[in-house]
Amino acid sequence: MSRLMRIFIIHILSWMSSCLLGDGLPFDLLSISGLRHFKANNLTNPGCAQAALDDLKKKASIALNNQQPYSVTNSSRSPPNGNEHGYYSWAPYFHANCSGVPHIKDPMTDCPYQRIDGKYATDLRLLTDPRDSGSMVNDVLALSIYYYLYEDEKYATKAVQLLNVWFLDPDTAMRPNIEFGQVVRGPGEWVGRVEGILDMRYYVYIPAAVELLTNSTAVGGSNSQFTKEMKTWFFQYGNWLLTSKLGTGARNAANNHATFYVVQLATYFAWTGQEKKAIILIQEFRDRQFQYQIIKSGEQPLESGRTRSFHYQAFNLIALTYIARLSEKINGAPNFWEQKTKQGATIKTAVDYLVDQGFPKDDPIYFMVPLYSAKQHYGDSTGKYNKFLSKLLQIDIPGDEWWLFWNPLALNDAGSMPPKVGTNRTDDDDIEEDGGGYTPADTNETVKWSSGALSITNSSVLCNYFVWGSLWILILGFIPRL
Ligand SMILES: *[C@@H]1O[C@H](CO)[C@@H](O)[C@H](O)[C@H]1NC(C)=O
Ligand SMILES: *[C@@H]1O[C@H](CO)[C@@H](O)[C@H](O)[C@H]1NC(C)=O
Ligand SMILES: *[C@@H]1O[C@H](CO)[C@@H](O)[C@H](O)[C@H]1NC(C)=O
Ligand SMILES: *[C@@H]1O[C@H](CO)[C@@H](O)[C@H](O)[C@H]1NC(C)=O
Ligand SMILES: *[C@@H]1O[C@H](CO)[C@@H](O)[C@H](O)[C@H]1NC(C)=O
Ligand SMILES: *[C@@H]1O[C@H](CO)[C@@H](O)[C@H](O)[C@H]1NC(C)=O
Ligand SMILES: *[C@@H]1O[C@H](CO)[C@@H](O)[C@H](O)[C@H]1NC(C)=O
Repeated sequence: MSRLMRIFIIHILSWMSSCLLGDGLPFDLLSISGLRHFKANNLTNPGCAQAALDDLKKKASIALNNQQPYSVTNSSRSPPNGNEHGYYSWAPYFHANCSGVPHIKDPMTDCPYQRIDGKYATDLRLLTDPRDSGSMVNDVLALSIYYYLYEDEKYATKAVQLLNVWFLDPDTAMRPNIEFGQVVRGPGEWVGRVEGILDMRYYVYIPAAVELLTNSTAVGGSNSQFTKEMKTWFFQYGNWLLTSKLGTGARNAANNHATFYVVQLATYFAWTGQEKKAIILIQEFRDRQFQYQIIKSGEQPLESGRTRSFHYQAFNLIALTYIARLSEKINGAPNFWEQKTKQGATIKTAVDYLVDQGFPKDDPIYFMVPLYSAKQHYGDSTGKYNKFLSKLLQIDIPGDEWWLFWNPLALNDAGSMPPKVGTNRTDDDDIEEDGGGYTPADTNETVKWSSGALSITNSSVLCNYFVWGSLWILILGFIPRL
């Protein structure tokens, strides 16, 4: 991020902080209810939200004028199976070690790759899918929010074009799976890994964007062909998450990989009319991995053991608070906010633990989202959440703009495009979070998945296709947390 950009964002953040910490701007700004409220009450006289709107406009205009829609097929390197429609990324924390390797022609295939947790390989940007994938989501969000607020069809048309090219057009579409995510390079077979599923975590915004665009001419309502096809994509992707070997691996993970798996799959279940399955998924996660994720003190041992301890604990809390918010909106889902782990801890215990650690030296920004959510749900009787949030709002934002996705201020910055290849980007957070152990803390507790209960029945989604009900409220109600 350029210096100017940083200064700009800091400027906005400090402006916004007075809004957010007071009771001016609804925290739920990005949720559809928040947006609706904002549109009805504040748009003509936005007060301290003006800066945010200006920035939204800027981001949406950049997206609007971008003549090159993103596509996985643009990548100069296809995944190992040669199918250019497959999403492709490399394991970020693996590095070639050529010491002792004779006759090196190409280090990428000749030298073994070894994992150094938290240290990014410098050549990840040779693959463009991760960046383009994120840019697509970013742009679509900016365009759809802008359209929703101002009802300018141009923006909806552009958003639909981006979605079409990325997801639907047979010539350019991404397949609804991640068979080659976070591939480890080296002499062995190049295969996709469970970790790659994390690359897709921000796709949970797509249902929200489609909802915001529903009434545009470009989308043509909730019964339109476009809507149907988008839902089919996410239905199929959900099916892949549920039934594939890699998906099953993520579901059996112990740490943040499992949490974000539930975030994604539950969202897509809910969007495609399969709330019951969303509930079962959340319940199973609650009874299984969650039990071991937070210990009595509030520490999350599966995350705190990583090199970036605070970062990963905050990261997992983003997903946990998301699940808690999602559960609130699904009739019959467990109350995740008050759910206790085996050692009696709740999400709040984990949030308090991090707050009480004091302000971290690096990577504090991810904590903003779960902290806001926690404050909103649990209140802030001692004022310590607000105190921490004020500090968060003052920091310089490192590296790139991905944090914006995780940030309740996203309206502020939605649509920002990560730097293109060649801008010497050093931070690769969009392909992060590799590794971290897949065995639940007490493997004897491993529950057999009630696969029957969760198996996808094709007809159920199709029947429910047009039963939107309050689903979109559900979907949009939790955007700001993720
Ligand atoms: C938005 O409108 C509501 C209701 O009129 C008002 O209470 C609130 O202060 C406004 N927020 C901002 C940021 O102007
Ligand atoms: C990516 O692919 C789309 C669809 O084919 C095309 O319109 C666009 O120009 C391509 N972008 C680049 C940078 O080549
Ligand atoms: C690279 O590999 C060599 C030989 O296997 C090993 O001794 C060395 O520790 C490795 N270097 C790093 C940085 O891991
Ligand atoms: C779309 O229009 C319908 C009917 O007027 C309305 O109920 C719904 O709230 C609108 N959706 C959005 C996202 O604005
Ligand atoms: C759903 O059923 C249709 C028709 O039977 C079939 O063509 C399609 O592949 C199925 N979709 C999924 C995701 O299983
Ligand atoms: C990237 O860094 C290299 C070496 O520091 C420099 O030569 C090059 O111009 C930089 N590229 C861009 C696009 O800034
Ligand atoms: C798990 O099961 C194994 C074998 O059944 C047993 O040896 C071990 O003590 C058990 N671990 C715990 C924590 O109960």
